[in-house]
Amino acid sequence: MSNRTSLQGMWSSRFAFILAVTGSAVGLGNIWKFPYIAGENGGGAFVLVYLLCVFGIGLPIMMSEILIGRRGRRNPVTTMALLGEEEAGTERWKLVGVMGIFGGILILSFYSVIAGWALSYTFKSGSSAFVGVSAQDIGDLFSDHLADWKSQVMWHGIFMVMTISVVARGVRNGLELAVRVLMPALLILLVALLFYSMKEGDFSGAMRFMFSPKWEALTIDGVMIALGHAFFTLSVGMGAVMAYGAYLPEDASIGSTSIAVVLADTTIAILSGLVIFPIVFANGLDPGAGPGLIFTTLPVAFGSMSGGVVFGTMFFILLSFAAWTSAIGLIEPAMAWLNERKELTRVKASLLLGGVIFFLGLLTIFSFNLLSGLQFGRGTFFDNIDFFTSSVMLPLGGFFIVVFAGWVMCRNSTSEELAIGTGLRFSTWRFLARFVAPVAILAIFANAMIEAFG
Ligand code: PHE
Repeated sequence: MSNRTSLQGMWSSRFAFILAVTGSAVGLGNIWKFPYIAGENGGGAFVLVYLLCVFGIGLPIMMSEILIGRRGRRNPVTTMALLGEEEAGTERWKLVGVMGIFGGILILSFYSVIAGWALSYTFKSGSSAFVGVSAQDIGDLFSDHLADWKSQVMWHGIFMVMTISVVARGVRNGLELAVRVLMPALLILLVALLFYSMKEGDFSGAMRFMFSPKWEALTIDGVMIALGHAFFTLSVGMGAVMAYGAYLPEDASIGSTSIAVVLADTTIAILSGLVIFPIVFANGLDPGAGPGLIFTTLPVAFGSMSGGVVFGTMFFILLSFAAWTSAIGLIEPAMAWLNERKELTRVKASLLLGGVIFFLGLLTIFSFNLLSGLQFGRGTFFDNIDFFTSSVMLPLGGFFIVVFAGWVMCRNSTSEELAIGTGLRFSTWRFLARFVAPVAILAIFANAMIEAFG
């Protein structure tokens, strides 16, 4: 194994690393985004493609990112330059790290806005705004929320301050603790909500919607979105996991760590769907309602169940925390790079990044009100940033990462770093990394091109 030491410190244990990567993976992607994009793309067939992408493409890429990160032990840009030089005699691979940094900044610009919605809904729930209110009124409440850009700017700002105040303190302080306590709490609450949905919602309708594939509902656009979401939800393709891998102790197993994270992440996404769709169908709501889906369905449940004020408030608090631990992953590659290469202290770097991302985020906020009429490409600014980052930048970044690990790095370096011998498990990873993942990404891109220009 390489004997470099990390500049930024180490996770206290393998378990801490699993928690951190899970914390970065489990976020708005699982609870907010997955249900609404599944809803917009017809359910079953989309869910199946998403699962295939997660296990066939996302998992081998996650392993590749961790092994590259741990071997390089630097920020993703320097790590890619270092390993590129070592394995292929060129530093150009650092561009993959650079693209990741920009991807993370762009994603966080809208991620923070949605996290701000969660914060604001915590207070709405706490002040009993949902109690005894009809699904129609809940919808109106959300429209008012979207129109109120000033309050969104405020919550987005608060969320950015929360994010940078954690990253400014370094790897260990704060982060580990948050994940250790809050993730299990989130899971428990989701299971409690599942019981509500099974009892009060149209559970069989939801099961049918999510698990019986209607292939005619799936377009190549839907496949692009499913692919992009596999990356987004696992936090891979932009160097977040690579940056975390740089702080991973030598003796931790990369394979089982990745499998644990992927299973946890997928379970939470599917659970969220099974909580939300029964409410959608029981109340005659539209599964394709878009980014507002959880904000227009869950409050219906909280409003009608006993103890709903407490449950609802807790839910939005936990959602905000899940977003918080993910936001840290989005900003860490840029943070580590500024810190190591530009010699900015973590405090200065986080102020700089926080400021830039805050201003970029205004474009997302205005997409829902002042600038909602400004449509181009795929729709509003938000629609474009979202699609471009998830469905283009992440798969492209993932493609280069997995090609680097599978084709550029020599077999010995990867088997040494993965430390699972050279038997079946290693061959499976290598086959997925060399053939399945890159070919699948290219095939999906090619299909989308043909569809768009052909
Ligand atoms: N995986 C996170 C989510 O699902 C988002 C994320 C993407 C976080 C990339 C870090 C890096 O919400």
